[in-house]
Amino acid sequence: MDKKSLSIGFFDSGVGGLSVLRETIKLMPNENYIYFGDSKNAPYGVKTVEEVQKLTFNAVEFLLSEGVKAIVIACNTATSAAIEELRSFYKDIPIIGIEPALKPAVELNREGAVVIMATSMTLAEKKFNALQEKYKEEANIAPLPCGGLVELIEGGNVEGEPVENYLREKFKEVKSHRVGAVVLGCTHYPFVKGAISKVLGEDIPVIDGSDGTSRHLKKVLEDNNLLNPHGSKGTVSIYNSLDSEAIISLSYKLLNL
Ligand code: DGL
Repeated sequence: MDKKSLSIGFFDSGVGGLSVLRETIKLMPNENYIYFGDSKNAPYGVKTVEEVQKLTFNAVEFLLSEGVKAIVIACNTATSAAIEELRSFYKDIPIIGIEPALKPAVELNREGAVVIMATSMTLAEKKFNALQEKYKEEANIAPLPCGGLVELIEGGNVEGEPVENYLREKFKEVKSHRVGAVVLGCTHYPFVKGAISKVLGEDIPVIDGSDGTSRHLKKVLEDNNLLNPHGSKGTVSIYNSLDSEAIISLSYKLLNL
């Protein structure tokens, strides 16, 4: 088979990476996609770096066995823990990662703190620390670890009381006066963007990195001469480590939100 018509593999600890996949489909509807969510082992954010690396390598092996031309690690936590190791081990395939979109948030230049919602592992790892270091003179950056939020979303809670109560309590932790902008540093969180705006107010910008990641993926495919030349609509296959109908139907629902 011509390499260009192979699928693009997406991976996340669960259903979160679907927020990236839905943006990518908008940008490149003619590509074919294989998504693997490891909901059985979610959340990753509370595990050790070594555990997350191992699970991420397993997921990449699965995607490779399905035959893919590029891989998107659509998980901030797995990117923080394993992207360098993956790239040095799998040299022949482009591997794209994701990181909190700090730059566009800082560039808004709003009064108040730039709050970064993410897992505690993402916020503790060197990738985020380097990013924070880069922008620390330009903005008041307030990391906000959101333990428990991935579990709510994995359970299908993307709106309503449970998630709004969680967010209301969580934002009490941001003592630093006013919130200027929010960065979603976990791919699960775009699914609760509406709830975040409801709790904080519609005027607070809420930024996620899926659009930037999708455009970066397109550029990498272009540079490697891997874009699918076929014009017709591509296919999407969703796999999950949880043997449950419910997680697959939640996945399709989230993909179309
Ligand atoms: N979607 C993952 C991320 O972007 C969630 C990590 C987790 O499972 O804790 O970080």
